[in-house]
Formats: sequence, C-alpha cells, structure tokens
Amino acid sequence: MKNTLIAPSVLAADFANLQRDIEMINNSEADWFHIDIMDGVFVPNISFGMPVLQAISKHAQKTIDVHLMIVDPDRYISTFKKLGADVLTVHYEACTHLHRSLQAIKAEGMKAGVAINPHTNVSLLEDTIKDIDLVCLMSVNPGFGGQSFIENTYKKIKQLKEIITRNNASTLIEIDGGVTNKNAKQLVDAGADVLVAGSYVFGAQDPIATISDIKQLTK
Ligand code: DX5
Ligand code: ZN
Repeated sequence: MKNTLIAPSVLAADFANLQRDIEMINNSEADWFHIDIMDGVFVPNISFGMPVLQAISKHAQKTIDVHLMIVDPDRYISTFKKLGADVLTVHYEACTHLHRSLQAIKAEGMKAGVAINPHTNVSLLEDTIKDIDLVCLMSVNPGFGGQSFIENTYKKIKQLKEIITRNNASTLIEIDGGVTNKNAKQLVDAGADVLVAGSYVFGAQDPIATISDIKQLTK
C-alpha cells in the first residue's frame, strides 16, 4: 500500500476565513500545506507574501511546502525558513545556479525542491537529482489555480522516475495543477508521491471528505 501525500493548495482557500480553512486542513487527512508564492514577474499573478505565510504557520500543524514562483529566489531562502517553510521549492527556470540554490536551502535545514514548467524537459534534472528532495512537476502553467491538467504530465512522471531510479536517488515526485479525483489514481500509478490540489478541494461542498476521497483513491 502506497502512502501518497496530499497537499491542499492554500491559494484556493477563502482568504477572509483563512484560519477556518487552515483548521480544516489540520483536521483532515491531508499531509502537507502547499503554499504558492507568486511575485508578478516570474508568473503573471501575485498571490500573497510574507506576513500571510507567517500567519498561516502559526496555525498550521502539518508540513509546510512552499512553492516559490519568483525570480532570483536565492534572495529569500533564509527568510522562508524563518517564516516556517519545511520544504522550499524553487523553479528550475528561475535559477541561474540551481546547485548553489539547493545547497543553500539544505544549509537552512529545509528539504530542497525544484519545480519545472510544462515546457521544461525532465532530463535537465539528471545532474542534480541526487541533491533534490522533491521535484514539483507543473501540470499546468504556473500562476493560477483552477486550470486544466496537461496530459503530457504522465509521460514526464515516467521519465523522471527513470532518472531517479538510475541515480539511486530518493527524490519525491509532486504533481501541481489540475489534480482531481479523475486523475489522482493514474498519477500515483505513474509514479507520483505528492498530489497538490487547490480548487478541487476548496471548491467542494465538503473539503474534508474530498481530501479523504483522494487519499483513499491513491492508497
Ligand atoms: C499554480 C499553483 C498551484 C495551484 C493549483 O501556479 O502552483 O499550486 O494552486 O491549483 P489547482 O489545484 O486549482 O490547479
Ligand atoms: Zn504550487
């Protein structure tokens, strides 16, 4: 039996009732909090920033998985540690010296993640895979919740899994964007370890039951 990790994306929460939504995740079968930080430069949207993450961290009782969609993320690695990040993911496309960024994240005591856009080939991670704790495969173009899942992601999961196995690495594969009960099982069967779900969870009548359903489907 596989323990797939479920990471609801707080981007889809009701920001006027944020504490209520944080408690919902605390009381659910979710494993992680997925936190999307967007700067309006790397992606064409601005989500929320440091004071909001600090407030979330005060209440969140599970692993905080921060996905940085920002240019030059090295500037803020130690800041995100202080704000409560346990996993810190930077974009491959935003890092000139990816290996250095990964070392800096680990030096702060966080797990190091790398996200890749739908157009970025997984083979580009071959030389750093041993240093990567988590690869976030974007299954939509980053910047917005509620977009449709890109089917080519299944192929990328399989290719990435081969790279991980070939290098004897223990990297987790996270899928981010358009995850629902319709594709969750197929994603896990292809090799996914962590599923991010935003609008599917928060748009449901009963988010707690929806998280349980995804958890059941992926066991
Ligand atoms: C997109 C974000 C995602 C987003 C997923 O740029 O990285 O984490 O919140 O939202 P859904 O599940 O609605 O596609
Ligand atoms: Zn994300």
